[in-house]
Amino acid sequence: MTSGWKKVASIAARSLSPGKPHHAQWLITRKCNYRCVGCNVWKEQDENELSTEQIKKGLDILKDIGIIELVLSGGDPLLRPDIAEIIDYAADRFVTTVYDNGSMAAKKVHALRKVDFAALSIDSLDESKNDYIKSVPGAWKNAMHSLEVLQKEGVRVAVTPTISQKNLYEIEDITNYFTSKGVPVWYCLYSYDTSVDSKQLFRIGKANDEFVITDKKAMFDLCNKLIEMKKKNNQILMTTKLLESLRSLYEEKEQRTWKCEALKSFLVVDHLGRISGCHNHNFAGSIFDLPDKWNSDEFKALRKTYHDCTQCNYLCYVAYSLYGGPSSYFSLAKDQWRNAKILFK
Ligand SMILES: C[S@@+](CC[C@H](N)C(=O)[O-])C[C@H]1O[C@@H](n2cnc3c(N)ncnc32)[C@H](O)[C@@H]1O
Ligand code: SF4
Ligand code: SF4
Repeated sequence: MTSGWKKVASIAARSLSPGKPHHAQWLITRKCNYRCVGCNVWKEQDENELSTEQIKKGLDILKDIGIIELVLSGGDPLLRPDIAEIIDYAADRFVTTVYDNGSMAAKKVHALRKVDFAALSIDSLDESKNDYIKSVPGAWKNAMHSLEVLQKEGVRVAVTPTISQKNLYEIEDITNYFTSKGVPVWYCLYSYDTSVDSKQLFRIGKANDEFVITDKKAMFDLCNKLIEMKKKNNQILMTTKLLESLRSLYEEKEQRTWKCEALKSFLVVDHLGRISGCHNHNFAGSIFDLPDKWNSDEFKALRKTYHDCTQCNYLCYVAYSLYGGPSSYFSLAKDQWRNAKILFK
């Protein structure tokens, strides 16, 4: 069996195991070279981080506990000098996505050759607006250059705009623009941390009035539009179910159609290897406490608390909550069967 098929077989076996977490986000560095106005990460940078060997050990542990899908994020993960080794190790074990703000991917294209998706954060087709959001002149040009290089080198690249009031009316155009070039699109939703936990693991979203979606009707209509567009455009990677859940937040009477599955179907790991259900809560241990701690009473109690929590709408957490178990994998596969071709080509 080739290593590609071994990976597919091993992932299929893990996806059928009930009671296991399937998604992990690992913020492998807190270093960042951008200054995005809606993000706190760059304000709280830290030189300390795990070594390459510690990360590899952690990746083995994540595989053992059942993780299928891994997102490497940060900070900017491509700033790590050992990123090629980390990605190669991760991509042999998981469906692996690596985020980049667009500044590093072209320079580190060799490191990305095995990823399932290199996700470039581009928030606008308007160069000056995009650079304003990133607070870095040239950010748009960097990202477009990275996109071109990655496409030319055959790296699977996706674009991930963060939907906010600032770009709400151009999301349809952004989607058409990139998908018509054969680049899949996945969205983040601007959020800011309202953690009641003063010891939250790390802060991401920064409160910014410019970004909060005030035109709820337009957001509701956008969700409907994307659901329609998806019928003909298989490069829109959001599932219909996820778009419907997102839409429910912008109905006249806001509704939440999911229960949070933090520390059950997903977990986050920070640059020091500390783990939590999500970044809004304090860490509950170290990745090296797993797998033993996974079934501890402490984790069971935390899971209950998180299940009732409605504190955030970070879209990745909503997606992981919607697609936690084997039956949801079946519905995910049904919704996304055309995209499987993108993943396994
Ligand atoms: C926190 S960044 C880390 C990875 C990398 N530095 C980047 O920008 O792609 C991961 C994703 O979160 C998005 N993001 C930034 N601030 C956000 C916020 N307040 N709410 C939701 N997503 C946000 C970014 O645009 C990016 O797509
Ligand atoms: S969104 Fe990414 S690039 Fe921007 S400041 Fe945050 S971590 Fe850095
Ligand atoms: S809803 Fe879930 S992901 Fe969001 S803060 Fe609560 S526990 Fe964390």
